[in-house]
Amino acid sequence: MFTLRPIGFVRSPYQETSGIPRGLGAQHHAEGVLEILPEFAPGLQDIEGFSHLFVLWAFHRSEDFDLIAHPPTDEKRPHGVFATRSPRRPNPIGLTVVELLRREGASLHVRGVDMLDGTPILDIKPYLSSIPAEKLRRGWLAEAEARKG
Ligand SMILES: C[S@@+](CC[C@H](N)C(=O)[O-])C[C@H]1O[C@@H](n2cnc3c(N)ncnc32)[C@H](O)[C@@H]1O
Repeated sequence: MFTLRPIGFVRSPYQETSGIPRGLGAQHHAEGVLEILPEFAPGLQDIEGFSHLFVLWAFHRSEDFDLIAHPPTDEKRPHGVFATRSPRRPNPIGLTVVELLRREGASLHVRGVDMLDGTPILDIKPYLSSIPAEKLRRGWLAEAEARKG
């Protein structure tokens, strides 16, 4: 077993999950703030140089999990939870790539939040991807997108 503690909390415009864009073609342009707790703020040194960040966070409002998920991007077809981004997972950890707009002390102003206001942040890492687009396969999601035309 592991015990995780928040390094901070997300300030987001979303108070309820129903306000967060979802489904095929959903885009996440909302701005928010990653407020890092004072004791972890020294860990932000040099983060300004990165345009995008991985944010790992807790689905703290999820109460249970399903091994078979029914994503809103493909409602009629079930998929294994690990082939989806469902909030109802055995370890309720979320992963979001955000654009870093600016840093104000221990507050990171970002674009691209898809989590609720008050969501606990577990970790932040610079976004680095070395996988060329032509090597990426998008599985059932590509099929769902093709069906929608
Ligand atoms: C499909 S998940 C994807 C989240 C993240 N980008 C990922 O891939 O892990 C996004 C949904 O999680 C739900 N959600 C957001 N914040 C949450 C929280 N703190 N607790 C539980 N559910 C949350 C909302 O319904 C939101 O639309």
